[in-house]
Amino acid sequence: MKLSSLSGNINQIKTDLLVIAVYKEKLVAPELKSIDKILNNKISRALTSKEFIADKGKTIYFDGDGKLKAKRVVLVGLGEKGNYTNDIARLAAYAAVKVARSLKAQDLVFKAFNDNNYELFEGAFLGEYEFKGMHKKINGNNKQLESFSILVKTEKEKTGANKLAKKALVVQNAVKLAKDMVNLPSNIVTPSYIAKEAQNLAKTTAKVSCKVIGFEEAKKLGMGGFCAVAQGANNYQPAKVVILKYVGGGKEKIGLVGKGITFDSGGISIKQSNGMKEMKTDMGGAATVLGAFKALAELKAKINITAIIATTENMPGGHSYKPGDIITHMNGKTTEIDSTDAEGRMVLSDALCYIQKEGVKKIIDYATLTGACLISLGEIRSGFMTNNQKFGDSYIKVSEKTGEKVWQLPLDEEYDDLLKSDVADSLNNTTKKQAGTVTGGKFLQKFIEKGTEWIHIDIAGTAYLSTNTRYLDKNATGHGIRTLVELFS
Ligand code: BES
Ligand code: ZN
Ligand code: ZN
Repeated sequence: MKLSSLSGNINQIKTDLLVIAVYKEKLVAPELKSIDKILNNKISRALTSKEFIADKGKTIYFDGDGKLKAKRVVLVGLGEKGNYTNDIARLAAYAAVKVARSLKAQDLVFKAFNDNNYELFEGAFLGEYEFKGMHKKINGNNKQLESFSILVKTEKEKTGANKLAKKALVVQNAVKLAKDMVNLPSNIVTPSYIAKEAQNLAKTTAKVSCKVIGFEEAKKLGMGGFCAVAQGANNYQPAKVVILKYVGGGKEKIGLVGKGITFDSGGISIKQSNGMKEMKTDMGGAATVLGAFKALAELKAKINITAIIATTENMPGGHSYKPGDIITHMNGKTTEIDSTDAEGRMVLSDALCYIQKEGVKKIIDYATLTGACLISLGEIRSGFMTNNQKFGDSYIKVSEKTGEKVWQLPLDEEYDDLLKSDVADSLNNTTKKQAGTVTGGKFLQKFIEKGTEWIHIDIAGTAYLSTNTRYLDKNATGHGIRTLVELFS
């Protein structure tokens, strides 16, 4: 969808859908008065008859009756002025796009109403995305909105808004890449597919390089955790470690690590079949990392990024790793397997070793790591752990603004007792039913070296939604991309 801005007289705008946002207590916004007059007061009549109450995200539309150049006028509610947040701007644009979609409009002009033009663009692209599935016959009713523009007052404002539109377009494409990857099934989004996407990025984007490591090389490097999971799948669906580098200049070097389990059957500790198909989304961390990397490189961010995606299926079979196995990781530490279903941490541990060997001292990892995270925080906030509060706070602050909310959990050393093994340095999973999400973080922390700042984000609940929530449609979300872009661009 094209994103842009324009300036001009609101009464003269030619569009399928002219959108005006209104607060609950101040229904007839000044810009609405002239339009209302042209339409013989039908808007104010609807408003006084309480046909429409401007709760946040609520909409009503009016026909332009041929008296306006706009075919239709849409009002979108912002709720009470005192409760206004950035999120409401996203919701307003999202809701307007949904109306446009239902009316099969091709273009939409949204009257700017405050300083949240970027959030309007975000809400718009979040509302416009649709995973169409793979039906033989494309559903002709699903017409996409072609253009979303923001109406501003002056030429100067237009220059500013167009800059934001350019940025939003890049982020839109990155989020789309991530959402598609998560929504598509595991017979399509294989480790090779993910590797190819990364290689494509390196081909088409300046200052980006990509290296793909296969199973044998990973074994030589001592990536025992990764290989343990991969060995059960590698005969059929070759596993990959994908390393992307972007050199944007400046001193800062940031590391992004993503869990890329393209299908998590649980392995020998097999999951129940009910709902197992959702485990095609277990590469949500990889999708976030790839999407954010793409956006930051295309925006020419002035930082250096190393991204690493450990990607494989987790399958049962004659080659699979087994409960009781003792695995040696890249840093020499050993793990006793309690459950082969705690596979995310097995592949991430070696990815963390690898990236630190590359000299990266600031790392954020994204992983659909624990079902316990979905149980404790639902689909609203990601689980968040860090070994460096200052680094952590910088992320939390931005995530509150972007609406990609997180909730911090502890990493007290006492939790280590839950991972004690008699025969290895650690268990891969606590045998007690306690602190499932924290022990996931604690396991990963064993692979963080002294002097490395690290954030671990468990997106098991937020990467993929079972219901529409705020301005997020159900299914894949790309959670984390917008925050990483704000943090580093
Ligand atoms: N991929 C799952 C976690 C998950 C569950 C993500 C639900 C999204 C939705 C992970 O690999 C897993 O199986 N975790 C186990 C952990 C346990 C074996 C320590 C779980 O959640 O039961
Ligand atoms: Zn698992
Ligand atoms: Zn998993």
